[in-house]
Amino acid sequence: SIIHVILTGGVGSRLWPLSRKSQPKQYLDIFDGKSLFEMTVDRNRNIADKVMVVGNIDNCHLSRKILEKTSTEYIDIIESTPRNTAAAIAFAAFAADPDDILIVTPSDHIIGDMGEYEMAIQEAVEKATQGSIVTFGIVPTKPETGYGYIERKGDDVISFREKPNKVSARDFIAKGNFLWNSGMFCFKASVLLEELKAFHPEVYEKSKLVWESSANGNLDLALSMDIPSISIDYAVMERSKKIKVVSSKFAWSDLGSFESVYDYLVTIGHVVDENGNMVIGTTNYTAFIGVKDTIFVYTPTANLILKKEFSQDVKSVYNALEREN
Ligand code: GDD
Ligand code: MG
Repeated sequence: SIIHVILTGGVGSRLWPLSRKSQPKQYLDIFDGKSLFEMTVDRNRNIADKVMVVGNIDNCHLSRKILEKTSTEYIDIIESTPRNTAAAIAFAAFAADPDDILIVTPSDHIIGDMGEYEMAIQEAVEKATQGSIVTFGIVPTKPETGYGYIERKGDDVISFREKPNKVSARDFIAKGNFLWNSGMFCFKASVLLEELKAFHPEVYEKSKLVWESSANGNLDLALSMDIPSISIDYAVMERSKKIKVVSSKFAWSDLGSFESVYDYLVTIGHVVDENGNMVIGTTNYTAFIGVKDTIFVYTPTANLILKKEFSQDVKSVYNALEREN
């Protein structure tokens, strides 16, 4: 069968104060009256036969509420400590049957054009059935440094470049054969596990041990701590020869920072004044005087005012508040 695996690690700290530890960005109802998590589930409802959710216990409770509200059947895999995406994806692959096709997605991205999405998924499932590990590439619109890049020739991957600096990112865009790595993957469970075993045997063996000693989807803490924390991009995608890229034409954003939220909101017609200022979180009339490209974020308990170009620095406020509490 086809299984939709949803990764729900992460807090979205660069979206503070919209995003909180108790209410990470994927569970907020800010974008369409629905949370990003629910939109992710809906998007794949007619594509997959089953849903698997991999995340920590707090996020699992939040996921469960939404899955139960929408009467979605699901399998929970509850991590006792985050060990990054290589391990999270390995657990899902161990939980599946070897021949199952897994579509792995984050829970906090936004995607336009359902038609394009479904076409990309269909192409990916075909390639995965034939034994490839498929990654979904997005045609880049700017030299973003917060993403990984896929250098490609047709559907073959020449190289992976995780989070380049600005100079390299500009160079990639100029070359024209680079795509953004969307962080979504599609593969047969057995193929992913074979490749993980070949290229990162330690993550493979230790995740296997954790999975085999788990009870009801709850993973042991002490054993989990021993798994190297490495992303699937570094552990498998950069090394395997079985990778194929599906170049996707749908609009996509990881909404990782206020700058990307801003860009996304502009594309769907959210109001920006003549100086590029934007209000997020309230419909109260707000005036800006003498400032440009400023974002005002309103929540009942905390506000944020920032220059758009400093969007990556929000994390430091979040981290400072974490330390105080
Ligand atoms: N369950 C679980 N456990 N999920 C996790 C864990 C974990 O330990 N670590 C990360 N995740 C989830 C995150 O919640 C997110 O949905 C996804 O896996 C990717 O992790 P991030 O930490 O957000 O990675 P990133 O944004 O730095 O980079 C990745 O995504 C970019 C696109 O958004 C890379 O794949 C980049 O190449 C890519 O461009
Ligand atoms: Mg991310």
